[in-house]
Amino acid sequence: MKTIKEEVINAILNHVNLDKNEIERLIEIPPNDDMGDYSFPCFQLSKTLRKAPHIIAGELADKITKPECIEKICVIGGYLNFYAEKVNFTTIVLKKIQEQGENFGSSDVGKGKNIVLDYCATNIAKPFHIGHLPTTVIGNSLYKIFKFLGYNCVGINHLGDWGTQFGKLIVAYKKWGNNAEIEKNPIKELVKIYVKFHKEAKIDKSLDDEGRAAFKAIEDGKDEYVKLWKWFRDISISEFKRILGVLKIDFDSWNGESFFNDKMEPVINELKEKGLLQESQGAHIVDLSEFNMPPCIILRSDGATLYATRDLAAIFYRKETYDFHKILYCVATQQNLHFQQLFKVIEKMGYPWAENLVHVANGMISLESSSMGTRQGTAVFLDDVLSEAVSKALAIIEEKNPELEGKEEVSRMVGIGAIKFSALKNKRIKDSVFAWEKVLNFEGETSCYIQYTYARICSVIKKVENSEDLGINYSLLAEGDSYDVVKLLAKFPDIVESASNEYEPSIISKYLIDLVQSYNKFYHFNPILSSEDELKYSRIALCKAVKIVVKNGMSLLGIECPERM
Ligand code: ARG
Repeated sequence: MKTIKEEVINAILNHVNLDKNEIERLIEIPPNDDMGDYSFPCFQLSKTLRKAPHIIAGELADKITKPECIEKICVIGGYLNFYAEKVNFTTIVLKKIQEQGENFGSSDVGKGKNIVLDYCATNIAKPFHIGHLPTTVIGNSLYKIFKFLGYNCVGINHLGDWGTQFGKLIVAYKKWGNNAEIEKNPIKELVKIYVKFHKEAKIDKSLDDEGRAAFKAIEDGKDEYVKLWKWFRDISISEFKRILGVLKIDFDSWNGESFFNDKMEPVINELKEKGLLQESQGAHIVDLSEFNMPPCIILRSDGATLYATRDLAAIFYRKETYDFHKILYCVATQQNLHFQQLFKVIEKMGYPWAENLVHVANGMISLESSSMGTRQGTAVFLDDVLSEAVSKALAIIEEKNPELEGKEEVSRMVGIGAIKFSALKNKRIKDSVFAWEKVLNFEGETSCYIQYTYARICSVIKKVENSEDLGINYSLLAEGDSYDVVKLLAKFPDIVESASNEYEPSIISKYLIDLVQSYNKFYHFNPILSSEDELKYSRIALCKAVKIVVKNGMSLLGIECPERM
């Protein structure tokens, strides 16, 4: 069965000099219902046809054969607007959702294309703190969104596991480290001695030199030093994996900065050969003044490589290994300049695919107060926040529904979901303030509200046994509150697509809030269980479709939905 949108595209197809994909890309959903369901803008055609857009729209309106599922076609300004015939529209949308189930909203536009997603990228021997939440959950959600659209995704945790700081850590460890304590509580203990190092180094300047020497020893492959670095790395990774396990987030590759240690020379040579490497105060840089940017430092005056050098090497390694269509760097806005510089260097090297490197920047999370239980120092461990969310969710369930089966599992889904949603709800670029009351609220614009609605939908469906979907009359749903829900349901595939075009999971979050609000309005004013059979079964058919779309949307955000709550 063709969707209404496909019918609209076909109707336009033979009358314009554009192919299916181009028409599809142009078609918009009008901002309000009076303007119909789909609209085709004629501004682009106006350039090639040398006619005013409204004239083209008018001519098209005369030429087009109206498909059966369309009630009328109108010209509004430079747009040609299509009004769906409501019963047809409802039938097609609901049948399509039922038929496609968990695939509703997916597509194969990305077939054969590889997308590399660089996200999370915590630093070893440092805490996995709340600041890493956005990159981690946004990256994971984009991974799922692109996969849903048929792309081949490669998720990379580009660990911060190389640099002078690890020399300092080794010095600190040799002075104050306690193996038993470290084994028990690896990251917290390593952070403690690292902080101590910095305090002491303020008084005793020679410590910094010792730290540099120790890092040089790692680089030179001195056994004792390499072993210690590896040990720090291993215990950090297993801690990160444990926390990522709680989030149910996975990676295809853990190649971090150290992986590129022996892969930087070719890039540095190529920069030299292309005449892009300049000496400046002993360091080697790529000048970016033509773009009003500070230079990108490739080698420090002591010959050491930098974060940017390793990122450059990583780009070429990824190009070779994954032949990427795009790399999406999900990293905080603080690194805007770093990525701008990096991409410009690739551009100056003469690679047109520099434009396929995208910094998907996210804002910062701060805490409303210290009520989160900040442990020593300023970092708030994500781990602590997650456990607290789960226990708070459990407390709420104990209060509201103590008899609930599988309370622990449900509170895990609710607690973890709430934390994830807090970072997926607003435009990613926005800074946000984390507050428990806002995050774990069953009525606000939260994941709990969506999950709670989902559980209620499941429960009403269970109460009406009609496994064969008998007696559905779609015309009963083609008006009022139920039709509002149908229209929102129909939008889902376009929502997923815009989320991918804008690298913006919040488009899906916002949509899900709108959908459950609209559903709840329908549910409130349109009794289901007490209605006579035909109406009851028809309304249940709508519930089933909402259930599918909510679940699909939530799973693209990486959030689970319990069937009972
Ligand atoms: N480890 C870095 C940090 O915590 C983020 C790395 C992001 N990815 C990259 N390829 N540079 O700031």
